[in-house]
Amino acid sequence: MSEEKIQVFAPASIANVSCGFDVFGFAIEELGDFVDARFNNQGKIIIESIEGAEGLPLEPELNVTTIAAQALLDEVGEKRGITFNIRKTVIPGSGLGSSASGAVAGAFAANELVGKPFSKLELVRFAGVGEQVASNQLHHDNVAPSMLGGFSVVRSNEPLDVLSIDYPEDIRVVVAHPQIEVKTKQAKRMLGRTMSISNAVIQFGNVAGLVLGMTSKNYDLIGRSMVDMLAEPVRSRLIPLYDEAKQISLEAGAIGTNIAGSGPAIFSFCKGDKSAKAVLEAFKKVYAKSNLSVNYFTSKINPEGAKRIF
Ligand code: HSE
Repeated sequence: MSEEKIQVFAPASIANVSCGFDVFGFAIEELGDFVDARFNNQGKIIIESIEGAEGLPLEPELNVTTIAAQALLDEVGEKRGITFNIRKTVIPGSGLGSSASGAVAGAFAANELVGKPFSKLELVRFAGVGEQVASNQLHHDNVAPSMLGGFSVVRSNEPLDVLSIDYPEDIRVVVAHPQIEVKTKQAKRMLGRTMSISNAVIQFGNVAGLVLGMTSKNYDLIGRSMVDMLAEPVRSRLIPLYDEAKQISLEAGAIGTNIAGSGPAIFSFCKGDKSAKAVLEAFKKVYAKSNLSVNYFTSKINPEGAKRIF
C-alpha cells in the first residue's frame, strides 16, 4: 500500500468511429486528464481542486473520477479515503471523451494506490461505473480505449467483453472542434429507440468492413466502411457546417470523416502526416467562413492508454 502522492494520466478518446455506435473507440495523444491522488486519513474521498473545466462537481458522489475510484475502493474493501486534484485538458461536451478520461483516471489512480490488484482490462469496468453517471447509460466505448490505448471493440457491456484490435501504424487523426457544447445525455436522447432492418444490415456490413480494414491495414476498406446509418444522420444537425466540412475533408484526401463520439468535434482518419496536414487546412478553410471559434489538432492513435506519471 502506497502513502505517497501519485499522478496519473488518462487520454482523451473518440468513440463510435462512424458505424460502431457505443462499440468502437480509440485513444488520442496528449489531451486528457492528469490526476494527483494520495490516501488521506479522513476515511472518505475528497476532491481538493478541479482545473481546466468549469461546472464539474466537487462532490465525490457526483464526480465521474471519484465515483470510479470509490467503486474500486468498495470492491477491495479499502476504508481509507483518497484526496484528488484533477486537471483536465479535454473540454466536457466536446465528443472527445472528457468524462471517460476522468473516470479512467479515477479508477487507475485508486488501483495504483491500493497496490494494483486489477489489470487494465479489469479496470475498464470501474471506469464504466463513473462514465455511466455522466451519460445515464452504461457504455464503455470511450473508457475502454482511454484505459487500454489503441482501438477498442466493446463486444458486450454486460457482461463486459472488450477487445483490442490492430490498426495501421501510419493512421492519423485530424480533429476540428467547434466550441459549442453537446452533452452526451442530450445527444443520446436524440436517437430513436429502433432502427429499420434495412439500415441495420448496412450497419452490420460496415462494422465488419471497418474491423477488417483496420486489422488488414486496408485504407480503402476503412474509408468505404465509415458509413453510419444510426447517429450521424440525426446528430450532424447539431454541428455547424458538418456536411461541408466532411465533404471538403474527403476531397482533401481524408480516408473517412465522421462525428467524434456524440460531437460536436469532427474527426477524419488520414494516411500519414502529410495527408493529415492537408485535411487540417481543409477544415480550417471551412470554418474560417463562420464566426465560430474552432480548435484543431492532429494526433496518432495513442497505443498506451492510462499511465502513471509519478
Ligand atoms: N457512444 C456514445 C454516444 C459516445 O455516441 O452516445 C459518447 O459518450
